[in-house]
Amino acid sequence: MLSQQIPRIPILDDIDVSGKKVFLRVDINVPINPDTGKIADDRRIRVHAKTIKLLVEKYNAAVVIGSHQGRPGEKDFVSLEKHADLLRTYSGVDIEFVEDVMGPTARKAIKELERGRALLLDNLRFVSEELIEAVPEKQANTFLVRRLGPLFDVYVNDAFAAAHRSQPSLVGFPMVLPSVAGPVFYREIDALRRAFEKMESPRIFVLGGVKVHDMVRVIEHLVRSRVADRILTLGLVAQLFLVAKGVGIGIENLRTLEEKGLITLIPRARRILFKGAPIETPIDFATVDDKGNVKDEKVGAITRRIMDIGENTISMYSGFVKDAKVVIMRGSAGVIEDERFRKGTKSLLEAAMDSRAFVLIGGGHLASLVDEESIDKRRVHVSTGGNALLLFLSGETLPALEALAMSAKMFLGW
Ligand code: 3PG
Repeated sequence: MLSQQIPRIPILDDIDVSGKKVFLRVDINVPINPDTGKIADDRRIRVHAKTIKLLVEKYNAAVVIGSHQGRPGEKDFVSLEKHADLLRTYSGVDIEFVEDVMGPTARKAIKELERGRALLLDNLRFVSEELIEAVPEKQANTFLVRRLGPLFDVYVNDAFAAAHRSQPSLVGFPMVLPSVAGPVFYREIDALRRAFEKMESPRIFVLGGVKVHDMVRVIEHLVRSRVADRILTLGLVAQLFLVAKGVGIGIENLRTLEEKGLITLIPRARRILFKGAPIETPIDFATVDDKGNVKDEKVGAITRRIMDIGENTISMYSGFVKDAKVVIMRGSAGVIEDERFRKGTKSLLEAAMDSRAFVLIGGGHLASLVDEESIDKRRVHVSTGGNALLLFLSGETLPALEALAMSAKMFLGW
C-alpha cells in the first residue's frame, strides 16, 4: 500500500551527463563540535565524495557542488571550507572552494569550470531564500535558481537527507533543468522500497535525538498512519513524553526542556498520548551529579541530570526490539559524546543487529556507532537521512522526490 507513494524517478543512467555542467546538490550538513568548530562526524561527507568522484572521473563532467550546513543563529551555521578539505581527501578530486553562493565570484567560477573538475560553493543557506519553504513553481523563480540555473545543463540531487525540505536548491532547479537522483539519493529510495516490502508487524520505532520538534511531527504522522506498532522514546523526546504523562523528571531536566524551548510541545505530546498512541517511555535513567558520580534512578524519583537510559529500560526496550520484524532507529539514547553514556544506545543497536528484523538506521550520531563493514547490508540499511526517512515512512510526501518526478515529465517526457 505504502510503496505506491514512491514515485518513479530518473537516475544517472537515464540521462547523458558526460562532459556536462552539473549542479550536484548534496547534504553535507554535519555535526560541528561547538567548542572546537571541528566536524564531529563526517559520514555524509564520505558518502557524497563517491558521487563527486564518479561524476568527475567516469562522466568527465564539470561538477558544481552545493549544500547547506546548520541554520542561522545556530553554532553549526558555518562556512563549508572545512567540508571542502574532507571532500578532497575522500574523493581524491582537487575540489576548488568558492567563498560565494550566487554572486559574481561564484558565477564566474562556475562559467570557467572545465570538464573533469569540481567546485564547492559556500553554504547555500548564506542566501536567505534557501530557508524559505514553498512550492517548486515558486522556488523556480527565486534569485538563486534564476541566477544559477542557466549556467547548468543538468541537476543531480543526491541530498536525500534534505528531501523533506521544499527549498529552492532542492525543488526549484528540477523545474528549470533536466534532473536526476544521484546514487546516494537512489540507494535511500531503494532501501525504503525494501522496508515497505517487509512491512510486517511488529514494526518498532526507536526514536530520540536533538531535533525534538521534528521528532514530534514524525510521531504525529506515525500515529495517524498507524505505521508503528510501538514507539520506544529516548533522550529529550522521552523526557517530553514523561512530562506530558505527568511524571516528574527532576527540576534540572525540566529546566533543560524549558531552555531548549520544548515546553510548548507538551500539549502536542499530550494529544498524541490521548489518542492511545503506542508510546513507550523509559522506566529508569542513568543520571549524574555535580561531582560526576553516575547511578541509575527510577522514573518518578529522578534528582540528578539525565544522561542515558537505565539498565531496566535497556532490558525492556531490547526485548521489544528482539521480537520485531522491522526496526527503525533514529537518535541516540544518551549523551554518546561521553563514553560513560553510550551503553543505552549501543545495547539497543546490538539488540537490533541480533534480531531477525529488517533494520533501518536513521543517520546522525547513531550511524557513527555502527561498524558498517560488519553489517549484513541486505538486512541493515544505514541511511544518510534521518528525519526525511522517518517522515516518508510515516506517509508524508518528500518535496524533493516529487520535484524529481515532475522534472522527468517536463524534460524527459516520462
Ligand atoms: C538534516 O540533517 O535533517 C538535513 O540536513 C536537513 O537539515 P535541516 O533540519 O536544518 O533542514
